Amino acid sequence: MTAHFTHIVCLECGHQMPPKAEQRTCAACGSAWLDARYDLPAVRALWEAGALRHREATLWRYRELLPVDGPNPEITMGEGGTALPRLYSTERLYGHQPIYVKDERKNPTNSFKDRQAAVSVTWMRSVGIGECVLASTGNAAVAYAAFCARAGIRLWLFMTNAAPLEKMREVALYGAEVVRVNGTYDEAKHMAAQFAQRRGIYIDTGAKAIPSKESMKTLAFEIAEGLGLVHDHGRPSGQFVAPDWYIQAVSGGIGPLGVMKGFGELYEMGLIDRVPKLGIIQAAGCAPMVSAYAAQAEKATPVSPKTLIHVLATGDPGAAYGLLRAHALAHGGAFRAVEDGDAFRAMRQVASQAGLSVEPAAAVAFAGLEQLLQDGTIQAGEVVVVNASGHTLTAEGHILGDQYDRYILSLNAQPSGAQLSTDLDALAEQVTTVVVVDDNPNDRKLIRRLLQSYKQYRVYEATDGADGLTVVRDRQPDLIVADLTMPEMDGLDFVRALKSDPKTSHIPVVVVSAKSITPDERTFLRRHTESVWTKGDFDTRQLVDHIVLTLGHQPVASPRREAVRTAQPEEAAAQHTILIIDDNPADLRLARRALSRHPEYQLIEASDGREGLKAIYAHHPDLIVLDLTLPELDGFTILDTLHNDRTLRDTPVIVLSAKGLNLNERTTLLRYTDVILEKAGFEVGQFAETVKRKLKPD
Ligand SMILES: Cc1ncc(COP(=O)(O)O)c(C=O)c1O
Ligand SMILES: [Zn+2]
Repeated sequence: MTAHFTHIVCLECGHQMPPKAEQRTCAACGSAWLDARYDLPAVRALWEAGALRHREATLWRYRELLPVDGPNPEITMGEGGTALPRLYSTERLYGHQPIYVKDERKNPTNSFKDRQAAVSVTWMRSVGIGECVLASTGNAAVAYAAFCARAGIRLWLFMTNAAPLEKMREVALYGAEVVRVNGTYDEAKHMAAQFAQRRGIYIDTGAKAIPSKESMKTLAFEIAEGLGLVHDHGRPSGQFVAPDWYIQAVSGGIGPLGVMKGFGELYEMGLIDRVPKLGIIQAAGCAPMVSAYAAQAEKATPVSPKTLIHVLATGDPGAAYGLLRAHALAHGGAFRAVEDGDAFRAMRQVASQAGLSVEPAAAVAFAGLEQLLQDGTIQAGEVVVVNASGHTLTAEGHILGDQYDRYILSLNAQPSGAQLSTDLDALAEQVTTVVVVDDNPNDRKLIRRLLQSYKQYRVYEATDGADGLTVVRDRQPDLIVADLTMPEMDGLDFVRALKSDPKTSHIPVVVVSAKSITPDERTFLRRHTESVWTKGDFDTRQLVDHIVLTLGHQPVASPRREAVRTAQPEEAAAQHTILIIDDNPADLRLARRALSRHPEYQLIEASDGREGLKAIYAHHPDLIVLDLTLPELDGFTILDTLHNDRTLRDTPVIVLSAKGLNLNERTTLLRYTDVILEKAGFEVGQFAETVKRKLKPD
């Protein structure tokens, strides 16, 4: 079946070699970048004669253009043949169509890496390889583990500590040997190579290995065949149709490299009329390709990854960058970086509006798509395909915070009428959502606390009008509390935008502002908002009551409850929540002791980075005391995450460090905080004083 695989060409020197999938380096120059070539006219003739018509919808349907005999019935799990649904909700959101998703979640282990694993493992078995080494940021690990299990191949996986435990457990379940490397992914890759060489075990080198890269072409074939079925731009149905854009999040880059080779072959066969433009999206904390492309550099400078999206943490892309750049220069394309926070927002949006639960790495592609649409890079009518994979399991915590699992009904065996109605009132409260839009973090927090000290509402914060619109569209709240004077888009424009959008025009708005209002503005606000409250000049309880009544709930000021309730809002306003993140119990105790004399502080503690991050999203603390060397996620990563989230950016941080900091680290830290205390000289009084100073509202 590999009769059409004719030869191999070295991408560096052009030397030609016989067609052997196991060829690792160029026989002339030693380069590892090789390319498989096929008898394309013969394949075209076969396919046009109807060879594809009766084949199953798996990636093996394009077997003539694969360098491997397959499928092997003992190994295949029906990989490939994934769906290509259209994203109507995203199209409406951005006013662009059509947008398709190549839904790689439907592969055996939920990512496009299953293509690579299926073809590579099938090939390994065919040439008698019984043991394999692989370094992976996570998804390739799961895919290879599953396919190697079926093929009876022993697999050594090198993964970093950043990979989530869920993925490690999954690969261990498949029986792979997991080597956890305490370092970056690039270091893990290096160690895997040395291990393989020393033990004489085959190592899969991803984009450089012929079966691996070739497998990714099947994405292109499926997309073009799929578009041919749904896309009727005057072409007879059943032909191959190329999209205008192929968008993918990139770490090592094997996906787009293979996909572009696939489209290239279809083009050479005359089956499509153009090769798509390439949208390469990276996480901003690990975007060596994006920076290099912007600088028109031929080589990417390696970076040290700082992103929560561990799947995308390849700091050194090597030659893959040059190949992708060459493609973008020849056929068009764009390289973009997106912040983690924007990826998480995109992830929630795609899940809640399009019903697709994609993983953070794929969400990066959607956030990048948003940029390309907004800056006009993708033009009206262009056909866009985005690669999506994975599950949300490993990210739900910091995306949803603590505000999702609140539906608690106390189910008595025989609920009395009164009990049931109390329960249902409570439920109504729990599903009520309020968005507070204010650029002053203290005011935002005050209103949040005020509401939450009386009612179990879900309260989300936004930092200006533009951010407010995003959060409101995202959360569809029951009520909005808005300030008027804000940067970017002020409150009046914000209200105008809300009222002109049929999706948000019905949401009641309560204005709380310090701005003096002109008669015209007052008329406008009277028409479009519920009420206007002047900051510093209202009774907090009246405001809460007004909001609660507007929402149609029981007022909180009923006389019976008054005695218990009255003291609360003032107290709540005076309280400060302080989060201490430190893995050393003795240091935790010390910080706790220094602050416990202040009853107005509510202390929360976390003993590793991941717990710390969860606590940040759950409690929105007023101040964070942060150790730097932490298990799971270090202090630098936490600072980065805070910085990338508009609602958390202003949280004061006191770094409490045990390690001697070098100049570089100190400079990095100073970008986030001006308070760096060393544990060695820790002094209780001075620490408490610093905390007090940082908590003082500006
Ligand atoms: C959805 C998604 N995008 C991008 C990547 C990064 O892939 P690569 O390392 O091939 O660039 C992955 C990796 O698994 C992924 O799952
Ligand atoms: Zn060569």
